[in-house]
Amino acid sequence: MNYYEKELNIIEKSNRLRKRKLFDNKLIDLASNDYLGLSTKKSLLKKTYKKLKKEKSFSPKASMLVNGYSTIHQKFEKKLCKLNKFEAGIVVGSGFLANIAMIESLIRKKDVLFIDEQYHASGMLATKLVQGEVIVFKHNDTEDLENKISSLSYTPNRIIIAIEGIYSMGGDIAPKEFNDIATKYNAILLVDEAHSSGVIGENLLGWFDYFDIKPQPNHIKMGTLGKAYASYGAYILASHNIISFLENRAKSIIYSTAPSLFDIALAYTNLKYLQKNKNKIKKRIAYNQSIVKKYLNIDAKSLIIPIEIGDNKKVIQIQDELIKKGYLVGAIRQPTVVKAIIRMIIKLDIKEKDLKEVVRYLKN
Ligand SMILES: Cc1ncc(COP(=O)(O)O)c(C=O)c1O
Repeated sequence: MNYYEKELNIIEKSNRLRKRKLFDNKLIDLASNDYLGLSTKKSLLKKTYKKLKKEKSFSPKASMLVNGYSTIHQKFEKKLCKLNKFEAGIVVGSGFLANIAMIESLIRKKDVLFIDEQYHASGMLATKLVQGEVIVFKHNDTEDLENKISSLSYTPNRIIIAIEGIYSMGGDIAPKEFNDIATKYNAILLVDEAHSSGVIGENLLGWFDYFDIKPQPNHIKMGTLGKAYASYGAYILASHNIISFLENRAKSIIYSTAPSLFDIALAYTNLKYLQKNKNKIKKRIAYNQSIVKKYLNIDAKSLIIPIEIGDNKKVIQIQDELIKKGYLVGAIRQPTVVKAIIRMIIKLDIKEKDLKEVVRYLKN
């Protein structure tokens, strides 16, 4: 019996078959989320290693609620709270686990979650576990959200609004008005900052920083460490109460081994580097965006540049052609996106001549 053969054949016929690949590491990487190019900086690795070597144990060993919580976790949480001006914070194994933790535990019976239709798959998956009501609103559409809130036929116990700071496929920013709506309806605003922290804002801290929104008790910020922070893991920042509630109710925090000590220590080193070099980094982000504007006439707000192709086969062809020239871009197909796109990441470690060559190619 060939289990799942029929299903796999259907996926393959629609050109949607996914495979993990080992790409030649000589290719110039314009596909990954290592936005600032920190993942190849050996000096940051060395610093982290030196720090970790001083620890008695190098593995987290247990859940943070048993004895897996270490000073490495605690120091990083404190640093994040201080920089982002949140009351409390908690590290989590990954962004995927963080979304499951927040959405599964915070939306209780008689609560309503309003979630952007393009919210990350981990959040969408978590909505299946929710006890309260879940209402999806149109992508980045504050009017649709407000219509849906005001047409509720009952008064919920709590309203929670879930958005992303920068959307992973479109590279677009959620409008500030979401915060006004949250304030108006006394709602909790949960912002997934996987793609915005480290990339936007006066201090490169992300969405709240970009709009100069001072964190309030109704704000939750989730950030991941696998992108601009060039490590792995995630964190949630919020009020003391919300963090304490997560510690008490979020199953993917309670029943999961604490985040990797090495990854948290690396993210800490990288965050410090980022803060120290923020002016240089901001200048370079603006410069890379100006190249995209000049050649592709796209007003990029982030480092994610989506180029709509609309054909699952064609995006793979374009990706293959660029590979032959020595460049790797993302080829994103349905069902991840509605229409197939080339997802180019204008990472800061890409040389100017290489970036220009790729954008010139994509122009045609
Ligand atoms: C918007 C968003 N949220 C959450 C995640 C999940 O984060 P992680 O990769 O740390 O599990 C991703 C990951 O790709 C993401 O793009």
